[in-house]
Amino acid sequence: MCGVVGYVGENNSVDILMDGLYSLEYRGYDSAGISVIENDSIITFKSEGKIDNLQNIINKNKKIESNIGIGHTRWATHGAPSDINAHPHSTARLSLVHNGIIENYKDIKDKLVKKGYKFISETDTEVAANLIDSLYDGNPLIAIRKAIEIIEGSYAFAIIFKDKLDKVYAVRKGAPLIVALGKDGKNENFIASDISAVLKYTNKYIIMDEENIAELKKNRVAIYDKDLKEIKAKVSEANWTLEQAEKSGYEHFMIKEIHEQPKAILDTIEPRIVHGIPDFKRDNILDENFWTYFDRVYIVGCGTAMHAAMIGKRLIEDNCRIPVECEIASEFRYKNPILTDKTLAIFVSQSGETADTLAALNLVKERGCKSLAIVNVNGSSIARASDYVIYTYAGPEISVASTKAYSVQVAIMYLITFKISLARKLKNEKEIKILIRNMLNAIDSINKLLDMSEEIKKLCVDYKEVGSIFFMGRDLDYYQVMEGALKMKEISYIHCEAYAGGELKHGVISLITEGTSVVALAIQEKILNKMISNIKEVVSRGAKVLLFAKEGMNIDKDAYDKIIYLPNIEDMFMPIASIIALQLLAYHTAVVRGCDVDKPRNLAKSVTVE
Ligand code: M6R
Repeated sequence: MCGVVGYVGENNSVDILMDGLYSLEYRGYDSAGISVIENDSIITFKSEGKIDNLQNIINKNKKIESNIGIGHTRWATHGAPSDINAHPHSTARLSLVHNGIIENYKDIKDKLVKKGYKFISETDTEVAANLIDSLYDGNPLIAIRKAIEIIEGSYAFAIIFKDKLDKVYAVRKGAPLIVALGKDGKNENFIASDISAVLKYTNKYIIMDEENIAELKKNRVAIYDKDLKEIKAKVSEANWTLEQAEKSGYEHFMIKEIHEQPKAILDTIEPRIVHGIPDFKRDNILDENFWTYFDRVYIVGCGTAMHAAMIGKRLIEDNCRIPVECEIASEFRYKNPILTDKTLAIFVSQSGETADTLAALNLVKERGCKSLAIVNVNGSSIARASDYVIYTYAGPEISVASTKAYSVQVAIMYLITFKISLARKLKNEKEIKILIRNMLNAIDSINKLLDMSEEIKKLCVDYKEVGSIFFMGRDLDYYQVMEGALKMKEISYIHCEAYAGGELKHGVISLITEGTSVVALAIQEKILNKMISNIKEVVSRGAKVLLFAKEGMNIDKDAYDKIIYLPNIEDMFMPIASIIALQLLAYHTAVVRGCDVDKPRNLAKSVTVE
């Protein structure tokens, strides 16, 4: 949830750490701080709130001459957002930043208090700083090793020691952390929660294995295993570009990422379409029996990933006739799911670090089931823990509200469905080729939807002051309205409820009164008349309906207050396009309401705590 950075090199560490923190701000923005070494002292700056507050404090100070330091942007767990609770947390000998949760912090704290340690913050992180201090006898590796044997929970730590003026240390478990290497042999090295924080400087990085300790000097990185033996770590090269991680002229990352969707989807699916049919050999799924061995599927995820999972369930069940359970990861992990050796468990995650999804995956692994992850971040924990991984190629998604990650996940659901249909001989190659062509046409039409941005923006003025919106849809549109409502809630702070069109009259219709805002999707032709009847049920009770329909549909004028016609695409592929309209609706509404679109309150991009 929090963002961690570290730097050692020949340039000004303050500037580089601040750059990194701005890139990681999407991970949390309750407070921020840095500790840097100048001469032989550790200097710390921290501030409650967004990184701009920290920058203002730094600007007011005399210029710091430092080439080494650590930084942090916080999503508060233990202790309210405040200057005191902001990281780094320091002792007389070290300074430390932390992403994660130390579950046994209370026990450790009690023992440290008995030893005379004093605590000034409410955080679990200060406990880690004092614990390492208490174990420190001049060798950071030994102190860190001993500390992580005691600590239970998740952590990505970056640490500097006052008597090790040229080194930064890092270790992680259950939280992401990479070590990035200076470009072209440049004398500098970095630590970051993810590569986007340092893309400006390098694209070469090492994914830290859990509990290994990294020791960074400006001209050398050493990685130590659990026995403190130095090991050779694999260096990866990020194919994400700096431009992808920048706003590039857009007002917000969210609108940039909405516009990136056609490319992101094509980047994701084209390499997996070989001779017109789906092919997952590049994902190392070489055995065709993989697609036929199972008789039950679970698809697990959280939030937006869960909504992509729901589309997957519907597609696989409709087309492949295999029962598919869709489960919220935080529920699944504490259930006793029916898992047999004929179950395939699919885990969907943009970040690949979501704690609940990872725990659900571990449960499935313990039960001996095959797991397949659909993940956007290369080398992330979920990707590494699952048997198979299909990477989506959306590029970095910075906006907290997920848009392009959803679309690529949905696109993969189509390909998986087609692959299973083909492998199980439910459809022949010719039929699959036609479906894929239709899917590509649907992707093409996203551009038309993006061109409707201004038209949709004009409608959002209606939502400037509203307190709640009901979303309704049926069939595939139902999953879309769930995702549309989530987008609207998280960035515009309007209370939204998403309902299946036929369900409202079973209770919720009592909330519809004169002027209630309703957003309805009536796109699925086979259910159109039923959906229109459901809409009329709310119109006749005074609802103001914004209706999204499909070009060519003949809709009664008394079924809506305002209408937008979306491009005419085959029903099955409509989700690829229609979600764009709902994303734009949420985005423009949030802007009109003056909300901080990319950094909505209380949220963080990747939820690495339970
Ligand atoms: O990284 P993940 O895909 O695992 O994240 C799952 C959810 O936390 C995420 O989709 C969240 O719901 C987004 N903020 C939605 O826009």
